[in-house]
Amino acid sequence: MKKINTVYFSPTGTTKRVIKSISMELGNIDKEYDITLEKNRRDLIEFNDDDLVIFGVPVYSGRVPDLILEYFNKIKGYYTKAVFVVVYGNRDYDDALLELKDIFESKGFETIASAAFIGEHSYTEKVAENRPDEEDIKTALNFGALIKDKIISDDIKPLKIKGNYPYREKKTGDQIIPETKDSCIKCGICAENCPTEAIDFNDYYSINKDKCIRCCSCIKKCPTNAKNFNDDKIDKMKKYLIDNFGEERKEPVLFI
Ligand SMILES: Cc1cc2nc3c(=O)[nH]c(=O)nc-3n(C[C@H](O)[C@H](O)[C@H](O)COP(=O)(O)O)c2cc1C
Repeated sequence: MKKINTVYFSPTGTTKRVIKSISMELGNIDKEYDITLEKNRRDLIEFNDDDLVIFGVPVYSGRVPDLILEYFNKIKGYYTKAVFVVVYGNRDYDDALLELKDIFESKGFETIASAAFIGEHSYTEKVAENRPDEEDIKTALNFGALIKDKIISDDIKPLKIKGNYPYREKKTGDQIIPETKDSCIKCGICAENCPTEAIDFNDYYSINKDKCIRCCSCIKKCPTNAKNFNDDKIDKMKKYLIDNFGEERKEPVLFI
């Protein structure tokens, strides 16, 4: 069996839960790289042919989040087997899984499996609330078991993954940032967990517009719900998501 490594970016924690469940069936984790925080995205990581790496990212606008693309350049493989996982908020994962696989196949990794899971939408708990749930976790554990069998049998074939070229066009979003209400108790959880260090550690009301990626980490992690978007465009987007993707339950898709 290979040395098991996980590499994931997960501002609101759903991707992390999925990756942890998949890896549970594979044995002890040799190294876990949680690259959500900036301080964890500085070092170069190199993997070998005795490693297995499970990569996980959330889907942002149908793509791999822009923020981590630069860091992914610092990760290198050498005939390294890899599993690619995207987690999306019940709308669609579009080309994100294909993009993630393409990025690492060009850097010395060989795909053995891929999957798209569903996580509670970062912008509203009314879409895919509490997912990954018990059923999703069962599917993730089962996926882990299938990966283990595949490695042991060494039966690796090319996989056809959903996605199109050219990839879905990226939207250049407006520079909207969360507001902070007076219920803020200055605990600092928002700043400590911000993936881009956009929140001032000495003044939690101050958020750098150029750094904020609108990942909703500060909003979801605030113990007093003091952070929120107070913006018509975001309200409209939430309504669109709830109206169109609030009811139907999408299921994880496994490519193995
Ligand atoms: C900026 C941004 C863009 C997103 N775009 C999509 C999308 O295109 N499709 C979708 O289904 N969910 C989308 N989501 C929802 C996330 O993919 C989903 O909530 C995911 O579970 C978040 O992962 P995390 O908990 O690991 O941060 C988006 C979320 C954010 C913050």
